[in-house]
Amino acid sequence: TKKNFDEDIKNVVDLSSLEDFRIKYLSRKGIVTQIIDSLKDVPKEDKPIIGRAINELKKYTFSIYEELKSKLENEKKSSENFIDLTLPGRVKEIGSKHIITQTLDEIKNIFKGLGFSVYEGPELESDYNNFEALNFPDDHPARDMQDTFFITEKFLLRTHTSPVQIRLMQSKKPPLRAIMPGKVFRNEAVSAKSFCLFHQVEGLYVDTDVTFAELKGTLVAFVKQFFGQDVQYRFRPSFFPFTEPSAEMDIWWEPKGKEGRWMEILGCGMVDPNVLSNVGIDPEKFVGYAFGMGIERTAMRKYGIDDIRILFDNDKRFLTQF
Ligand code: PHE
Repeated sequence: TKKNFDEDIKNVVDLSSLEDFRIKYLSRKGIVTQIIDSLKDVPKEDKPIIGRAINELKKYTFSIYEELKSKLENEKKSSENFIDLTLPGRVKEIGSKHIITQTLDEIKNIFKGLGFSVYEGPELESDYNNFEALNFPDDHPARDMQDTFFITEKFLLRTHTSPVQIRLMQSKKPPLRAIMPGKVFRNEAVSAKSFCLFHQVEGLYVDTDVTFAELKGTLVAFVKQFFGQDVQYRFRPSFFPFTEPSAEMDIWWEPKGKEGRWMEILGCGMVDPNVLSNVGIDPEKFVGYAFGMGIERTAMRKYGIDDIRILFDNDKRFLTQF
């Protein structure tokens, strides 16, 4: 009946109930198909009228089916495009600066505040810049102090940042006041204390009236800013081929739960007149001081890290702590 039919239409709420509707009315054994089939039993004279009525019924049912189908398909499509704003977002992880980079940034900022600019040189260096110009003669025993990665007879991975002093003095005229941060390489056995690669910050000040007292004053100002005003420090006489006189600076370090001790943090001294001559600066007219500090050990002290290798492991569990 028409009533049943309308009821069935109302029950079509999704594509699967639409399919039930199609099977019930329009499939090969469906009600509409059966009615069409029954036309053959109608007396001949009634066929045109009944035929037309059946045809109307068929068209009507099909048009309702098509209408519902396109409506339901559209609904399905737009529900697939629906964005659920209540779902938690997908967070993009962003990296953070490595603790060595953070330490370098901090050191650069302190020295910038003390009037130093920043200058950089290459990690692959000539033997000349790394040793010879810095007053290490070929047969000088001090040359054995550095276990060097040689690339060729004349080129090597720099063993310290001091060759950048040479580059700076060759390329610019004094007065010069700069720090020179970067990676350095040493062919040593890897252990908790030493790695084949680490970072240094070199410092150089060349002018007509530079004194050892100024060198000390600058380094004391630095350690106070970096480690804290109450840091304890001392200078010890030392030796470097490129400075005369030379010294090393220690700070007092007390690791948690362990006995305190003096720890060396940098080497320094007055630029040797031979070095100035090597770069064409008149040692009668100009004086300079220089210093060089290792970054890893300094950072390890500051952050309480006891194995240098962890700085190069790139373990996220470690890196994300800083
Ligand atoms: N280049 C020295 C080192 O690697 C440090 C240093 C730099 C000492 C400048 C004096 C002056 O140990």
